[in-house]
Parts: sequence; structure tokens; C-alpha cells
Amino acid sequence: MEKYVIRGGVPLQGEVTVSGSKNATVAIIPATVLVKGTCIIENVPDINDVALLFNILTRMGAEVRSLDRTTVSIDCTQVRDCCVEDCEAVRKMRASYYLIGALLGRFGNAKVGLPGGCDFGVRPIDQHIKGFEALGAEISIEHGIVNASSDGLREASIYFDVVSVGATINVMLAAVGVPGKTVIENAAKEPHIVDVANFLNSMGADIKGAGTDVIRIRGGQELHGGRYEVIPDQIEAGTYMAAAAAVQGSDVLIKNVIPKHMESISAKLEEAGVTVVENDDSIQVRRDGPLNRINVKTLPYPGFPTDMQPQITTLLCLAEGTSIITEGVYDHRFRYAEELRRMGAKMDVDGKICVVEGISAFMGARVRACDLRAGVAMVIAGLAAEGITEVFDIEHIERGYENLVEKLQAIGGRISRVTEKKPVLEAGKIG
Ligand code: EPU
Repeated sequence: MEKYVIRGGVPLQGEVTVSGSKNATVAIIPATVLVKGTCIIENVPDINDVALLFNILTRMGAEVRSLDRTTVSIDCTQVRDCCVEDCEAVRKMRASYYLIGALLGRFGNAKVGLPGGCDFGVRPIDQHIKGFEALGAEISIEHGIVNASSDGLREASIYFDVVSVGATINVMLAAVGVPGKTVIENAAKEPHIVDVANFLNSMGADIKGAGTDVIRIRGGQELHGGRYEVIPDQIEAGTYMAAAAAVQGSDVLIKNVIPKHMESISAKLEEAGVTVVENDDSIQVRRDGPLNRINVKTLPYPGFPTDMQPQITTLLCLAEGTSIITEGVYDHRFRYAEELRRMGAKMDVDGKICVVEGISAFMGARVRACDLRAGVAMVIAGLAAEGITEVFDIEHIERGYENLVEKLQAIGGRISRVTEKKPVLEAGKIG
């Protein structure tokens, strides 16, 4: 059993470089299914979700090669089958659902297992289905498999009832393969949506409006290979900003960021009394005084990201006074409160609202990573805590953070990854 062991209270100082965006990469990899030719993708993070996708594509007949630590070459020319139904990796992650859109776009049919991913309560895919149906696919879900079939897709005008990152990207992928003009309204606007559109456009697609709430796709072109560099990870950058903000005396330069993507996070940290200096492609974060209480509400981009909610809530546990955090995207994203309470946090959760009363310090404890971002929030709490914190179930964290331990160690974090031996049963006590 692997765990992180953290000795807290040591200020973070130095430089950390952000990796490529997880949520862009996990959409761009499935998007290569639409391309006949070799895609060279740079700035790919070395994380478990990416490894799972490479595994799935290889099984589908793609040629996937690692060119250096962050560059891969993917050639899906030989992919012939639109079925990825019996693959365990598909059920282990959320982004595998992008294979439905990509296979539909390429073959007009797709058979893919239902996705997994972090557990925030029910995560429906009705908007994805609405979009695929508008494009002319017939969808059925049986025995955990999504079966999308058509005699050829047609252009459509689609209005999403909820703003969904996944549905926006998925329908965009399918529409790229459909001759004619498809319009997506009430689209999500996250930076990784723009990145996926830029990737597809650089391979010959014609997508306009990504990053606004109306996306127009002229589909049906044959996409060719090419080279593309993934944008830096907004949430990884925000996580290091929150970590620096959590430990008094910290001063960290976070490199390889797009400051524009960080605006909502920078603004909230500044409101909380943290010094944030934006440069062209880096951000300096300094914490040299007490934290102020603030209120935060998560919203789709350009609002404050839900994927930064556990990290900022953890930070606000250390602010003077009472902060209110409202989760505006998911129904159940405060499940980690129970873990933070083990470290002394005073949090009162009622559905999508969490009232936090500031404490002077966390106390080290044994805690679980309930999911990816909640898990990294435990790490932040551990870095700020008095004494030793042990974080278990770290596989959730390693799905999405590249070299977290090494990066934190490089800025002075006393954190290590340790293998805990399973308890040995004493003779005579078996069972
Ligand atoms: N929703 C529906 N119907 C749908 C799709 C979504 O009701 O068909 C609802 C969801 O239940 C949720 C809201 O709409 O309440 C937003 O969900 P969205 O579809 O935007 O989320 P997602 O595509 O499943 C991606 C990221 C998440 C991130 C969200 C929101 C990937 C692989 N995942 O999920 O990332 O929280 O967007 O920004 O891109 C993470 O990285 O830790 C993570 C969970």
C-alpha cells in the first residue's frame, strides 16, 4: 500500500514547473482517432489517466510511441473497430467517454463502456446523448455499454441544457466527422475546450468559436497528421498556488502557466491576503501574513473552477473568521470534509454549501484521498499542518498530478512516498 508521509509547517520556496493540462490531454488523445496520419503531441503529462488512454488506443490498433519524456506520437490510421466495450481501463476513468464522440466522428458508430472517474454523486451523460442524437445517432445503454449507431450522421444545431465540458468536447469530436455545419450553443468555455479545438484545427478541422458559448463546426474534412503542444495545466498551477498560500513564509515561482487562465484563482487568493504577481508565463505566490476570510462559489469557466474547490476550502480552514464556499457544479463535492476534520478543520456542510470557521493550524493525522482534487487538498493540509500527516489512497492523486512528490520536494516540501507493508497476520489468528 502506497502513501504520502508529510512533515508540515515548512515554508515552500523556489520554483516549480507546471506540466501539460490533464483535461486537455485526455481529450486530445481520443481526438487522434479522427486523424489519419501521425500526430506528434508535446507537453503530455506523465500521469495514470494518460497511460490508461494509451493502453486503450493501442488495443484499438493505434500505434503509440513515446518520443521523449513529454512527447508522444500517435497514429490511428489502422484503427478499424468502433468497439471498446470490454476494456477495464475505460471504466477506470472519465475521459474514456471521448472515444464515443471520436469513434462516431470517424465511423458513424461507437460501442464504448460507460466511464468511471471521481465520485461526486451522479454524473449523467444525458447532454452527450442529446448531442449525438441530434447528429442522427441512435443511442442505447445496456449492460454498462453505450451503443451509438447511425447510417451516417448529419449536421445539427444543438443547445445544451447544462453547461458541460464533457458534452461540449464529445459532440465537437463527433461533429468534426460530419459533413455540413454543426452549431453547439450553451457550450462550456474552459481553456481545455479551446485547446482541443486548436488541436483539431491544426490537423485540418474547421472549428470556430471555441472559448465562447457558441461553437460552429464545418465537418467532414479528412484530418491529417501534425504536431501540437498541449497547454499548461490550469488546475495543477492553481494547486501549487494554494499550497504556497497555505504555509506561512512561502514564496514560490510557478512556471509554465497562462496567467489569463488563472485569473479567478489569483483574484480569490489576493482577496484572502496572499501576494500574487503575474508575469508573462509564470506566477509568483507569497504568503507573509494572516489569511482573510472570503466567500467562494464555483462555476463553469471563467468562474472559479470546481476542480480548485477542495484546495481553496482547505486554505480557508486557516483563514481568520468564517468563509462560505458554494459548490456550483457538482452535488456532492464536500465528501472530503470528514478527512479534513481529522486534522482539526471546523467545517459545516449542508449539500452544496460549506461553512468554514478558521483555525490557527491543522494537526497532522492519517487521512484518505477521497478523489483526485480532494486528495491533493489533503497534501496541502499536510504541508501546512503541525506534525506528521499520512495520506492514503494516493492512486486517486496520481491519476492527475505528474511527479507531485518530486515537485513539492524541490520547493522544500517535506513529503515522501512510502510503501506501507500490509499487516502480517499472527499465526493462529487467521480469519
Ligand atoms: N452534467 C449533466 N449532464 C451531462 C453532463 C454533465 O447533467 O450530460 C452535469 C454534471 O453532473 C455536473 C455538470 O454538468 O454537475 C458539469 O459536468 P461536466 O460535464 O462539465 O464535467 P465532466 O466533463 O464530467 C470535466 C472534468 C472534471 C471537471 C468538470 C467541470 C475531465 C476529464 N473532467 O468533467 O475534472 O470537474 O469537467 O469542470 O475533463 C478533475 O480534473 O478533477 C475533474 C473532475
